[in-house]
Amino acid sequence: MPAPSADELKRQAAAVALEAVAPGMRLGLGTGSTAAHFVDLLGAKVKAGLDVLCVPTSERTRAQAAALGVPLATLDEAPELDLTVDGADEFDAKMRLIKGGGGALLREKIVAAASKRFIVITDESKRVETLGAFPLPVEIDPFGAKATRLHVERVTRDLGLIGTVGPRLKPGGHVFVTDGGHLILDCAFGAISDPDALADRLSAIPGVVEHGLFIGLATAVVVAGRDGVVTLGR
Ligand code: 5RP
Repeated sequence: MPAPSADELKRQAAAVALEAVAPGMRLGLGTGSTAAHFVDLLGAKVKAGLDVLCVPTSERTRAQAAALGVPLATLDEAPELDLTVDGADEFDAKMRLIKGGGGALLREKIVAAASKRFIVITDESKRVETLGAFPLPVEIDPFGAKATRLHVERVTRDLGLIGTVGPRLKPGGHVFVTDGGHLILDCAFGAISDPDALADRLSAIPGVVEHGLFIGLATAVVVAGRDGVVTLGR
């Protein structure tokens, strides 16, 4: 039998997370290609009669879920969630994550923090010993973007992180703008030896709206690999 593709692995992880969904739950829906599998599988359950209410973390996910007939609410309408399921760009053994590759990190973090459980769904390629191979996204306000970028560079250099800090661009060269109207700095440092310290320092910079280090939020990481699906946490 041929080895499963990365896309098949993502769907397997999504299917395992779906088992945690119960009737009447309020759910947060993540963003990205792995989360899209979860939304797709959830849509089929809703069509078959499952009663849930969902808060999407991006306009992209909102459109996908709406097209599938998934009942939607804003986080203001449903401020306390039972479970959020989302993908990640990297995770380590402590279930610390880098997220934001799809540019939705602010809403993803707000929604995850409003949830009793936060299940991360991934394929095995996202597992790392040390976070940082994936450039860390940092969401900033457009006001004073250059000053904020310099501040981010200074703070990260102080922590011994040397690399490039640059605005995310869309194909064609236009600046990427998030659903909330912010910009993203992609910070390619390589190994981040102390993610907790970096998270604290970035959060303290005026102009930084949020960063893609998700620490202490994931309650479980479902990892689909060639040898099967394993779950860290619960
Ligand atoms: C979006 C995210 C995504 O969850 C992350 O980029 C993973 O995406 P994919 O499942 O497509 O690999 O954080 O902001």
